[in-house]
Amino acid sequence: MANEEIVVPIHSEYEIVTARHKVREICSKLGFSSAEQTLVATAVSELARNIVEYAKSGEIIIQLVNSNERKGVVITARDKGPGIPNIELAMKDGYSTSNGLGLGLPGSKRIMDEFEITSKVGKGTTVIIKKWKN
Ligand SMILES: Nc1ncnc2c1ncn2[C@@H]1O[C@H](COP(=O)(O)OP(=O)(O)O)[C@@H](O)[C@H]1O
Ligand SMILES: [Mg+2]
Repeated sequence: MANEEIVVPIHSEYEIVTARHKVREICSKLGFSSAEQTLVATAVSELARNIVEYAKSGEIIIQLVNSNERKGVVITARDKGPGIPNIELAMKDGYSTSNGLGLGLPGSKRIMDEFEITSKVGKGTTVIIKKWKN
């Protein structure tokens, strides 16, 4: 199984579903349980939804990592939208600038093994999440 990379351009609700399906497919190839696949797909949905909601468009890159040392999935969500002025605040449970639940970012962080966010106002946002196979 070679290292795979799938890029899903995100513009609308429709592509959020595509990203969900693609990530499940890769997680299944890696031997993640159905419950684990659902968790990772949920994190991806939240990041993709944030792209549509706050940046209008962007992309989700799904990478399958299958080396001798590590097996897992690395997902990058990136956009060239307005950016996040205060990341610490955005990462708090319940913080939302859109009357949302404010659980997308902190929830994704809890679900995944690794979570990294970088954002620059006026430039955009990049979130990288990783889940390793035990
Ligand atoms: N890609 C993004 N671009 C700009 N702002 C974002 C992005 N993702 C998240 N945010 C900001 O972070 C806040 C928290 O996001 P999230 O935890 O997903 O909660 P919610 O989407 O329910 O508001 C959002 O309300 C928004 O202000
Ligand atoms: Mg959200």
